[in-house]
Amino acid sequence: MNSIQTHAPTPLLGGLSPQAFMRRVWQRRPLLVRQAWPGVQPPLSRTELFALAAREGVESRLVLREVGAERANRTGRTDRTDGPGPAADAWRVRHGPFSRRALPALSRPAWTLLVQGLDLHVGAAHEMLAPFRFVPAARLDDLMVSWASSGGGVGPHADSYDVFLLQVQGRRRWRVAPPDPQAAFVEGLPVKILRRFEPVHDWVLEPGDMLYLPPLWGHDGVAEGGDCMTCSVGFRAPSGPDLARELLQRLADEAGDVALEGTAPLYVDASQVATANPGAVPPALQRFAARALAQTLRDPLAVPRTLGETLSEPKAQVWFEPGRPLPAGVAVRLDARTRMLYDERHVFINGESYRAAGRDAQLLRRLADTRALGADDVARLGTDALGCLCQWAEAGWLHAVAKEVLR
Ligand code: SIN
Ligand code: CO
Repeated sequence: MNSIQTHAPTPLLGGLSPQAFMRRVWQRRPLLVRQAWPGVQPPLSRTELFALAAREGVESRLVLREVGAERANRTGRTDRTDGPGPAADAWRVRHGPFSRRALPALSRPAWTLLVQGLDLHVGAAHEMLAPFRFVPAARLDDLMVSWASSGGGVGPHADSYDVFLLQVQGRRRWRVAPPDPQAAFVEGLPVKILRRFEPVHDWVLEPGDMLYLPPLWGHDGVAEGGDCMTCSVGFRAPSGPDLARELLQRLADEAGDVALEGTAPLYVDASQVATANPGAVPPALQRFAARALAQTLRDPLAVPRTLGETLSEPKAQVWFEPGRPLPAGVAVRLDARTRMLYDERHVFINGESYRAAGRDAQLLRRLADTRALGADDVARLGTDALGCLCQWAEAGWLHAVAKEVLR
C-alpha cells in the first residue's frame, strides 16, 4: 500500500520530506545522500542477476572497456586523438540474452552488465520502488541494476531521466558535471561518451548511499574494487517531439480504424474546373486535409486519452500470463508489471483507457495510487467496474490477495 507521508522528513532524501525534496532539489541539482537506505540489500544476488540476463524477454547489455594505454600496447596503435581518458578507450557493447559463458570472468576488470526493468522480473526490486512513489508514476520508467567488475562503468554520459542511483553493494565513484548545452558525443563508439566532461563533484558511494541526478547532468560511475551493484530508479523526461510522435502514432492508429469503417465523408470537388496545370495541388484539397487533421485533435479528450494510454503502455518485452477468474469477496493487488494511471475522466491500464466517474472512478483511482484495493472497496464497485476488474484479473493484470496481506 502507499504509505508515503509526503510531509515527513526521511533519511532517503537526506532528512528532507518528499515535499521539500520536490520543491528544492528535483530537476534543479544533484543530491548526494549518505546512508539514504541503511542496510539496503541487493534485490538479487550476482548469480541470480547473471541467470536473469540469460533469459529471453529480459533487456540486458554488456559494456566492456579496454583502457587506451592497454589497447595501444596490444595493437601498437593510438588511433584516437582525444588523449587519455574514456574517449581514448575501446568500448564494446553487446546485447543479451547472455549465457554465463558469454560473460567475462569475474576477475577481468572494467566490464559491466546492465539489466533494465528489474522491477518487472524480481519482486524485491519492484518493492524497492515503493519509497519513490512520491513522484508521479506517469514519469516512472523502471529500476535498472548494474553489476560491475573493478573499473567497470558505461563512461561519462547524460540521460534524459531524473535518476536515483542507489549503491546496493560494493563501492562506486561518481563524477558529475552540469548540463552542457553544447553536449556532443565521441563519434564512432558503440556507447554514448560525452566528448567534453568537466566534473564538479567527485563522490565515492558505499552501500546504502544514494545520488539523485536531474536530466542532462553528465555522470560517470566507475566501480571501485569488484562486485559493485547499483540500482537506478529512472524517471523519463520526454522531449516534446518524442511525446508528439508517440501520441500521433496512436491517433494515426485510431484514424486508421475510422478509415477502415469507410463511413467518413469523401473529398468532394464537384466545382473543380478543367485545369491547364495538372501538377498543382488544389487549394481546396489542402483545406480538406488541414480540416481532417484538425478534426483528429478537436476532441478535447484526444490528447489526455492518448497520453494516458501511451504512458501506461507496458514495455515491449512485457507479457502477462493469463490469470484466474476473480473469486467473490477478495482484495486485489496489481501485478508488478501493470502500469495504471488516471486523469479526470479516464482510468488507464496497460495501454487501455476506460471512462470512469463517481464512486467507481474514486475506487479505481485508489487502486492506481496504492496498487491494491481492499475487499470492502472491491465490494463497493458498480457492475461495470467490477466487470473490468474481473477482465483484468483474467488477463493477469491484477491478482486476488488475502485481505490481511494488504495491511
Ligand atoms: C550504471 O549503473 O553503471 C549506469 C547507470 C547510469 O549511469 O545511469
Ligand atoms: Co546514466
